[in-house]
Amino acid sequence: MKDNIILIGFMGCGKSSVGKELSAHLGRSLIDTDQWIEKKQGRRISDIFEEDGEAAFRCMETDCLRELLKEPDKKIISVGGGLPIREENHPLLKELGRVCYLKVTPQRVYERLKDDKTRPLLQVDDPMERIESLLVQRSPIYEKCADVTVEASDKSLEEIKEEIERSCG
Ligand code: S3P
Repeated sequence: MKDNIILIGFMGCGKSSVGKELSAHLGRSLIDTDQWIEKKQGRRISDIFEEDGEAAFRCMETDCLRELLKEPDKKIISVGGGLPIREENHPLLKELGRVCYLKVTPQRVYERLKDDKTRPLLQVDDPMERIESLLVQRSPIYEKCADVTVEASDKSLEEIKEEIERSCG
């Protein structure tokens, strides 16, 4: 198993912000799978969804994990909220390192993302309903993939970072 710290969790759970804190504090580089895919594709996630569809994007996520396995480790890796849903990604995540799940309530996600236009899955008439139903489907999968679960709804970035460092650092 490689020695990366992998952050998983729903959209808006704070993976990117927590990833930046951990990266700065531990002096490890930060990789974000969405950014990695956007750079490789030269397109935004929303354009990939629109032009190629979600299934094609999910294949790109798996390719990204395979590529990251070839790289030197000791990174912080923040993965897109839907990446753990694909079963074939589970052994790849395990192989990459310690998997840390940032758990948040649907209300927190809604507050953070109600004006966001970059998440194609939330561009619907009733985003709260979509958040709740996706979380019902996904929460058990996140739990199953995770080595560590951190309750992230009501904690500061500093507290979350410290909790992850204690269990994964
Ligand atoms: C998605 C989450 C997004 C991005 C895409 C799909 C999802 O990443 O990969 O919009 O299915 O939950 P973030 O979790 O970083 O927002």
